[in-house]
Amino acid sequence: MSTLSGASSDVRHVATSVAEVFGREVRGEPLSADGKSGAHMERVVVDRQSYVLKYLHPADDWLMRATGDDHYRPLTLWRHGWMDRLPDCIDHAVVGAAWRERPDGPAGVLVMRDVGASLIPDGDVRIPLGQHLDLIDHMARMHVAFWGCRDTIGLLELSERFVWFGPQLAERERARGGTDPVPTRFVPAGWERFLERAPRAADVVFSLLDDPTPLVAALDDTPQTLIHGDWKAANLGSHPDGRTILLDWDLPGVAPPCAEIAWYVCLNRARLPQSKEDTLLAYRDALERHGVDTRSWWERQCLLSLLGTLLLFGWEKALGDDAEAAAELAWWEAKALEGADQL
Ligand SMILES: Nc1ncnc2c1ncn2[C@@H]1O[C@H](COP(=O)(O)OP(=O)(O)O)[C@@H](O)[C@H]1O
Ligand SMILES: [Mg+2]
Repeated sequence: MSTLSGASSDVRHVATSVAEVFGREVRGEPLSADGKSGAHMERVVVDRQSYVLKYLHPADDWLMRATGDDHYRPLTLWRHGWMDRLPDCIDHAVVGAAWRERPDGPAGVLVMRDVGASLIPDGDVRIPLGQHLDLIDHMARMHVAFWGCRDTIGLLELSERFVWFGPQLAERERARGGTDPVPTRFVPAGWERFLERAPRAADVVFSLLDDPTPLVAALDDTPQTLIHGDWKAANLGSHPDGRTILLDWDLPGVAPPCAEIAWYVCLNRARLPQSKEDTLLAYRDALERHGVDTRSWWERQCLLSLLGTLLLFGWEKALGDDAEAAAELAWWEAKALEGADQL
């Protein structure tokens, strides 16, 4: 536990138990939510306030295993005070963190205010345009607040960011006894279809999944900031006062900001009230509005980030069967080829 527990550079204390966070023993009820990682979640009510606990342990959570999260990135951000540095338009909801002893090593526990009432509802309903533009504005403000920062605390490295969802994931997960259908069934089936359905992009995508050095080097030449890494509807909400709720800090790292908006257009496809192009431009406008000059690097970083995002989700884009899915895959394939021209 020594490498995981407190260090002198910590700004925030990680308690030795959940009871220490609340000042008394608490008992949670399992929360049924639509998380994808496998992490165990609970709800507890203390003094009539509702809280959500998220338990982080690689044995339960294929995403932590797939991305090599041995140090519990959400806790890392919290301990080092990086969550405190977010602009006030972002609510991460975290109010404390704790360890919980387990025979197979300590679980990290994230203690959050229950913000369920203000989350974007599940389903395929479009996000209202005003809310979508606010989300993008707040994304840009967060990126601007960390513009040019360096990772001194051990977050997800850029060299790892685009490669963990590749075809090898299924074998690695099965070898570890993992049974979650996403890594063990959908990912390998999707990559096979990607090869058939997007053969021109498949060459460059599979080659970069084997060795992402050219992509990482090209992106490294463009501006970097802190990205959250999973800006999708299930992790987002809006408070009545307009602040954005941003949950699920499993994939943060210093990275090109366009990687964040590229992920947003990729995973929220069915929910976007604007086209992907207009969404990308709305984000660019927001950066400019908040003082970033994008002229010298925008096109290159944007195309390279779209290519990187296809390394992550080519399998998912190939799984659909209707005309809309085919058009979506064709869009990503064309962008990936333009991205490859930037290498
Ligand atoms: N603080 C919170 N308040 C209310 N609901 C939450 C909170 N944190 C998480 N949830 C719910 O649990 C779901 C899964 O949590 P999340 O941290 O996103 O885990 P996963 O990594 O499994 O996606 C979220 O999509 C949301 O519906
Ligand atoms: Mg989530």
